[in-house]
Amino acid sequence: MREFIYFSNSARTTGNFNSEKLMDAGRMDIAIHTLINALFLSHKIREDTKIHLLFNGPPNPPQHLEIFPEGRKSSGEITLSKKNVAGLIKKMLFRAKRDKKVIVEPGYEIEKKSIFKVLNDLIEEGKEIYILDAKGEDIRKIKFKDNPVFVLADQDGFPHKELKKLKSLGTAISVGKLTYFASQVVTIVNNELDRQKI
Ligand SMILES: C[S@@+](CC[C@H](N)C(=O)[O-])C[C@H]1O[C@@H](n2cnc3c(N)ncnc32)[C@H](O)[C@@H]1O
Repeated sequence: MREFIYFSNSARTTGNFNSEKLMDAGRMDIAIHTLINALFLSHKIREDTKIHLLFNGPPNPPQHLEIFPEGRKSSGEITLSKKNVAGLIKKMLFRAKRDKKVIVEPGYEIEKKSIFKVLNDLIEEGKEIYILDAKGEDIRKIKFKDNPVFVLADQDGFPHKELKKLKSLGTAISVGKLTYFASQVVTIVNNELDRQKI
């Protein structure tokens, strides 16, 4: 399983946003593009991939949305469709509880949890963490093992303090010298893993 963690300090943490005005919901449009590029191929969903959306915007941060479409064909009502990712995120945020994880449907879970708690849990599970950063090591020089976790940020990047802490938890890797959209970075990473048959 490959995993992506998308961090946004501005994405809204309530389902009460307008699906027609996603840019006004703390750039929810970027979160959606990133999710689509993480989980979708042409006519196919990547069932070996999970995305964690870490939303830190108002009014109820932090929210950790976990989306893993593995096995979705046979279970649950929500069909992951590119057309309704905003609806899915809204539904998950509306169901969030202050003190417990909510399984909205199998494969769609939400919990009030910070990025560092999420990362510590993944590290305890023995997973290797890679921080996407233009100044990091060239992705093409890395031979990935199974179950890698990739962390990337929204249009504003990681706050300086968080980036320093993140880099102490994992390896900083770069997909090139240019600054790409988060969603483009995910596509490049997916392609590299596909080529390495991870
Ligand atoms: C649009 S960029 C953020 C730009 C922001 N102004 C900054 O300086 O971080 C969104 C995210 O994509 C990732 N990213 C963008 N370009 C990258 C590159 N060349 N290599 C690795 N990660 C990159 C980083 O995680 C970044 O936080």
